[in-house]
Amino acid sequence: MGRPVAIIGGAGNEGFGLALRWAQAGETVIIGSRDAARAQQAADKIKQRVPDANVSAMENSAAVAASDLIVLTIPFEVHAATLKQLKPAIRPGSIVVDTTVPLAASVGGRATRTLGVWQGSAAQQAAEILGKEIHVAAAFHHVGSELLIADGEKVDCDVIVCSDDPAATKTVRQLAAKIPGVRGLDGGKLENARILEQITALLIGFSLRDKGHAGIRITGLPDSAYKS
Ligand SMILES: NC(=O)c1ccc[n+]([C@@H]2O[C@H](COP(=O)([O-])OP(=O)(O)OC[C@H]3O[C@@H](n4cnc5c(N)ncnc54)[C@H](OP(=O)(O)O)[C@@H]3O)[C@@H](O)[C@H]2O)c1
Repeated sequence: MGRPVAIIGGAGNEGFGLALRWAQAGETVIIGSRDAARAQQAADKIKQRVPDANVSAMENSAAVAASDLIVLTIPFEVHAATLKQLKPAIRPGSIVVDTTVPLAASVGGRATRTLGVWQGSAAQQAAEILGKEIHVAAAFHHVGSELLIADGEKVDCDVIVCSDDPAATKTVRQLAAKIPGVRGLDGGKLENARILEQITALLIGFSLRDKGHAGIRITGLPDSAYKS
């Protein structure tokens, strides 16, 4: 990508899995955490698995200030507060990739249900908080952390990217395609993030019932739709 990817919550399950895959693909990754020492532990774990990884560790505000391609992997219940806190450190023109699924489980409910979000989706909530100068893209909801972290596993899932900024969509589709097995597709406007977030609860239901890692594939489009 030629630019570092900063992952907020990068020491957690999803953030660590994405960081690992992008480090394996030769991308420069910054692991963000509220605690720089926790970020460093995650970066060290990546270095153990990918000795030539270009990975560093920072407290979240420093991480967003150091990159204009930011991936958000934090629980929904802290989504709004964390974005408000980090906003002053995010550079205008940055892309913020929101992976958040507003699962009822994040407030003690079931993992197979989503919560209603006033703005329509967590990603639209992010866009409202961050304002017009920061480009929000919703993506990676359907790529589970267990598969990302598993050694050498191809990820059998497409990543659908929704954003109101075509350049952000293109960049995030390319970032998705760095993960072996994944194709990045243009899912249209950010308002479609609502659908991406809600389908995740359905996929979690499949995975729980049948003890697997349910993903999603889009079929029937010309080759050009799958190439980023
Ligand atoms: N797990 C998956 O398979 C998966 C798949 C797709 C999307 N997602 C989405 O990714 C997000 C993270 O899920 P996860 O499973 O990776 O969760 P997780 O491992 O529990 O947490 C991720 C990180 O969030 C940070 N965090 C926790 N509480 C916080 C707080 N009060 N304030 C600020 N940061 C806090 C923590 O980082 P520090 O303590 O280091 O700051 C933690 O490591 C969720 O929105 C989820 O919907 C997850």
